[in-house]
Amino acid sequence: MLPPDWIDTLQRHISRKSRITVLTGAGISAESGIPTFRGPEGYWTVGSQVYHPQEMATFAMFRQRPDDVWQWYLHRATICHAAAPNTGHLAIAAMETLLGDRFTLITQNVDGLHLKAGNPIEKTYQIHGNVFQVRCAAACSPELHSLPMDLIGRAKEASLTDAERALLTCRRCGERLRPHVLWFDEVYDERYFHFESSLQAAAETGLLLIVGTSGVTNLPNQVAWTVLRKGGTIIDINPAENPFSELARRSPGGTVIPLPSGRLLPQLLHAMQQEMTGRSQP
Ligand code: APR
Repeated sequence: MLPPDWIDTLQRHISRKSRITVLTGAGISAESGIPTFRGPEGYWTVGSQVYHPQEMATFAMFRQRPDDVWQWYLHRATICHAAAPNTGHLAIAAMETLLGDRFTLITQNVDGLHLKAGNPIEKTYQIHGNVFQVRCAAACSPELHSLPMDLIGRAKEASLTDAERALLTCRRCGERLRPHVLWFDEVYDERYFHFESSLQAAAETGLLLIVGTSGVTNLPNQVAWTVLRKGGTIIDINPAENPFSELARRSPGGTVIPLPSGRLLPQLLHAMQQEMTGRSQP
């Protein structure tokens, strides 16, 4: 049962026809069995070495050790491919159906689970890319291609074979293909990562739901600060305290809900549905 003040906040934004934006991170997919980035299983093991994502997820590392980087991404893609959206993803997809153009979804997740849940790709700002897409590492063309499905399901520790390397070669120029993800030594842009669109949505947002992120990346911070500056409400849904918790408390009517998103989001959806249905009655 949600506390009445949370329900009031939600319903006030629904009745005011505010734009509602949901910003998600790896935490929303934890209940689908995908390890978070900074949780204990998020580390990269290469041989006997253990790396933080920040050390391996760089274009510089890809240039030095493309096979090692691909091995890790193919392992992650295999996990993501096997995963199903959970009740949190499904609630967010239903929110989009309910709110239509008043709704924006910004996700840092590259796992594609919001799309599997039903959020349309053209309206889902995948600001860190998607692990099921590839592009030419030499940027001979801006085109995105699907990751060949033959590369899914391989053993985590298996070295790349020549046949696999061939599948990861650009047909146009013969250079390597790379995962379509934003690495730590790269910058956001609009074409691939919806940078301006995300900030525009933030500027128009009355209510921001931040779900399952540790709040360490740039664009999500800009989104949250923009909403705060414009007087919007922030609700932070995360069992752990994080940098957005403080912003949520500072925002008008904002709050921190320290619960797993799979449990909480269906309740928020229900409160939204009640308000929408109530308003449509005479
Ligand atoms: N419900 C809600 N939140 C949860 C849940 C859950 N069931 N389980 C874990 N969390 C929270 C954790 O408390 C943590 O704050 O999810 C957060 C996950 O944090 P990270 O692993 O740092 O993931 P994220 O914030 O998405 O990382 C941001 O950094 O590595 C890069 O590009 C990568 O997109 C990624 C970005």
